[in-house]
Amino acid sequence: KPRICVLISGNGSNLQAMIDAVEGGQLNAEIVAVISNRPGVFGLERAEKAGIPAHCLDHKDYPVRDEFDAKLQSLIDSVKPDAVVLAGFMRILTAEFVEHFSGKLLNIHPSLLPKFKGLNTHQRAIDNGDSEHGVSVHFVTPELDGGPVIIQSRVPVFEDDAASDLAERVQEQERRIYPLVLQWFVAGRLTMKDNKAVLDDHILPPQGYA
Ligand code: GAR
Repeated sequence: KPRICVLISGNGSNLQAMIDAVEGGQLNAEIVAVISNRPGVFGLERAEKAGIPAHCLDHKDYPVRDEFDAKLQSLIDSVKPDAVVLAGFMRILTAEFVEHFSGKLLNIHPSLLPKFKGLNTHQRAIDNGDSEHGVSVHFVTPELDGGPVIIQSRVPVFEDDAASDLAERVQEQERRIYPLVLQWFVAGRLTMKDNKAVLDDHILPPQGYA
């Protein structure tokens, strides 16, 4: 079975969706490791409960970014993954790390990229007066939140929304699309070529699969 390594920093609701998809037979893969850069997060408990080896590599123990990334890289390499999946992983990764896993490194970002790269995306969508917001799954390249988009899902923004309302609406979509993309990937249908996402030999448009 294809081997997936999941990187988290927190709650792990995306991880849970993947665990559920594996158990439900929609994702034909094995989650071989979960790694958090923060100790004590709920996502690690979710992994343990599902019987998945859970590791914590606390970035605070590594004052130099390169050293953290090198350690993380060798830990990931040791589980020989076919896919490395960032699921609420809140650390910027060095270009060297990203290149090492190029083509099998995926991320989910809570905005309609290229809008709102970086942090606080829900509040920024509200502050911007947007009537629509959403989430993107993309291949990771050294450009932060700039890799080719695979799929997006859109949600409405309502007038009285707080950032937390919007986050909840977006995360409902996350749980739906991330396992779907992973199944495409592990089935060999999805690749990155010349900085573009390719699904079933079709180059996907900038907004991804529609
Ligand atoms: C998700 O909304 C994800 O899109 C976001 O963090 C949340 C993690 O939730 N990721 C980023 O902001 C990446 N920069 P989870 O831990 O419950 O999966």
